[in-house]
Amino acid sequence: MAIDILVVDDEDMIRWTLKESLESEGYRVTDFGNARDFLRFFQEKGGDIVLLDIRLPDASGLDVLLDIAKIDPDVPVVVMTAYGDVETAVKAMKRGANDYLSKPYNLAEVNLLIKKIVQTSLLKGQLGRFLEKVGNSYSQLLGENVKMKILREHIAMAAQSDRTTVLIRGESGTGKELVARQIHLQSARAGQPFIDVNAAAVTGTLLESELFGHEKGAFTDAQRQKKGVFELADKGTLFLDEIGDLDPNLQAKLLRVLQERRFRRVGGSADIAVDVRIIAATNADLEKAMEEGRLRRDLFYRLNVFTLFLPPLRERKDDILLMARSFLDSFRQEFSKPVSGFAQETVDILLNYQYPGNVRELKNLIERATLLETTNKIRPSSLPEELRGGAPQVSLLPSGPAESGKPWLTAGFNLKDYVDSVEKRVVAEVMAECGGKKNKAATVLGLTRFALRHQLKKHGLEDDSGS
Ligand SMILES: Nc1ncnc2c1ncn2[C@@H]1O[C@H](COP(=O)(O)OP(=O)(O)OP(=O)(O)O)[C@@H](O)[C@H]1O
Ligand SMILES: [Mg+2]
Repeated sequence: MAIDILVVDDEDMIRWTLKESLESEGYRVTDFGNARDFLRFFQEKGGDIVLLDIRLPDASGLDVLLDIAKIDPDVPVVVMTAYGDVETAVKAMKRGANDYLSKPYNLAEVNLLIKKIVQTSLLKGQLGRFLEKVGNSYSQLLGENVKMKILREHIAMAAQSDRTTVLIRGESGTGKELVARQIHLQSARAGQPFIDVNAAAVTGTLLESELFGHEKGAFTDAQRQKKGVFELADKGTLFLDEIGDLDPNLQAKLLRVLQERRFRRVGGSADIAVDVRIIAATNADLEKAMEEGRLRRDLFYRLNVFTLFLPPLRERKDDILLMARSFLDSFRQEFSKPVSGFAQETVDILLNYQYPGNVRELKNLIERATLLETTNKIRPSSLPEELRGGAPQVSLLPSGPAESGKPWLTAGFNLKDYVDSVEKRVVAEVMAECGGKKNKAATVLGLTRFALRHQLKKHGLEDDSGS
């Protein structure tokens, strides 16, 4: 279950871009063009976070704030104000808004702010609202294969010694983040923050300040002092995701914190001591990275204290059906669809597939199939093309409708699926040709890096982190 964000703005373009961007980060977004529709919905269904434009066609956002407070005084609200209209922003904060964005803002800023709200709510111990959702989607680690049983034992051991650094290795989509959260939740640090940062998403000074914080004036944009994730995670767990891609300049700094458990804010002169457990994760070949001089050996040895290897799904095929059923069960409820199981041919296909995207791919395809299915059993036609017999290619043998280069003549053809599968194949091929380098692949595909990340996520090809 995703965190529900409600967007209220009368400009279609703004609603659309916010929705697009936030959904690609895994939130569920519902949008409204006026105050009345929003309030009616909010009264009835509620929401987790509200993004509210101050200038609405039928009311002032300032008044809407009062209505929101009557319905749910705890819901975090971010108001969107015109550039430079500090006065309104201040009024809004007085009426209970948590934060404000002045237009025009960039999407990265919005994402960061939302992340911050979720994390501070967790920090403040207002767990109820989010823990149920965050906790639910993360609480269950499925799998009865012997490798999974051993993994569970290792998770329990890691949870026991709550100062030990843990390194989680495994292909994309094998559940590294899920396992990291399990370790945290089973450890003595459970009531404390779990903070994740993606080492690959930001670089240089930005990441340094994200990790260690900065003092006011440390660099041009540093208008205020800011705490880094090491400070925010104090007493809790810090999850360093995609550690294999960490900027070389930061590796030495990270090493120092790992050794001494103290660091300095960017531009700061005093050491700050923290008590954090580090869990690092990567799908990269760290040995190769060391050989090629991209990863410091001393850092690797510091991280490689207690290492968990997550098996790819194709190495535990006996878990495929069990997981598929469990995912079907939750999506069926979420979408209120009367789908009760899988047709036999579907089972055969699911069992024979290799799952390069591992559990994430399986989960995504079950979600999609649940949505598409119109009968009470998932039929092969609701599965993506590449599972049903290779990617849709124009074959040289003109014997059947598909082979004739006219796949739309095949039974069960659906344009959206077809376009989706072509899109997925092209993105996957270009990523492979570019050696997994997103910047390069984005250029080849004519996409922004953000749009590429969205594509990768949409097709279960990588990248779940969203930071
Ligand atoms: N054993 C499992 N049981 C249930 N769900 C799982 C399991 N493993 C993974 N998942 C689900 O699959 C998805 C991907 O998992 P996760 O984000 O933890 O993968 P990851 O290894 O961190 O991938 P990446 O390297 O791409 O970041 C999530 O939705 C997660 O809940
Ligand atoms: Mg991950």
